[in-house]
Amino acid sequence: MRIIDSISELNSVRSQLKTQNITIGFVPTMGALHDGHKALVKQSVAENDVTFVSIFVNPTQFNNLTDLEKYPRNLSKDASLLEKEGCDYIFAPSASEMYDTEELNGCFDFDFEGLDKVMEGKFRPGHFNGVVQVVSKLFRLVQPTRAYFGEKDFQQLAIIHHMVKSMGFDVQIIDCPIIREDTGLALSSRNERLTAQQHKNAIQISKVLFESRNFATQLSPDELTDWVIKKINATDDLEVEYFEIVDVKSLQKTTNWETKTVGCIAVFCGEVRLIDNIRYESHI
Ligand code: PAF
Repeated sequence: MRIIDSISELNSVRSQLKTQNITIGFVPTMGALHDGHKALVKQSVAENDVTFVSIFVNPTQFNNLTDLEKYPRNLSKDASLLEKEGCDYIFAPSASEMYDTEELNGCFDFDFEGLDKVMEGKFRPGHFNGVVQVVSKLFRLVQPTRAYFGEKDFQQLAIIHHMVKSMGFDVQIIDCPIIREDTGLALSSRNERLTAQQHKNAIQISKVLFESRNFATQLSPDELTDWVIKKINATDDLEVEYFEIVDVKSLQKTTNWETKTVGCIAVFCGEVRLIDNIRYESHI
């Protein structure tokens, strides 16, 4: 496995690989890797000749400076995990390697056709511009055949699909299921920041989401939304930022159960912000 930290080195590796007729799998990450990332890498290694993983805590997608500063970073630990999984190349650039001053100051603007106006987009203004800025740049550099993203970031995944279509990338996006602890808590790099007690309380998030499936036919989406929010807010340390039951394609709030729906949630557990989601259609 080779660790690359400059764009020029990446370009030269990429042109060498171009001379061979091979498939490239790509897993973009911000590091602090856990079993969720491991599953993405495993799938990429199984489906492609060569796997690239990027590790870059992208400053342009953080609208909260504390969140950016506190984001866990541990390149050597991540590298040893990736080596064991059979990753071939890690691309781990610095912010100044990735962006010039203009790019860093958020000049990127992308048309999401409304997908960015709800949920994460509403509460984290500019977040998805930063995500698309970095992912589109990484796609241009790595030129993958397939790229792997987790469904925990449901809205991000919808926006990446939209980006690929509207920017004309020749990349197959592979949606990968949420990986959970045995307790049900969705794996996240941010879980590292929870105290033992907060971690215990955070388990209630997925517990309530799973339980909510039992009421999906009896209650309207609005009623179920209130039920989920009340139940989670009743737990110590937890404060729901939003919970919305939306159409899986448009991400707009739904008033009935006739279309495919997903319930997306963001919850503060102390000062750590966690997200999760649950699909309802398979139960109706
Ligand atoms: O999901 C993430 O970890 C990030 O948003 C991504 C896709 C690596 C872009 O920085």
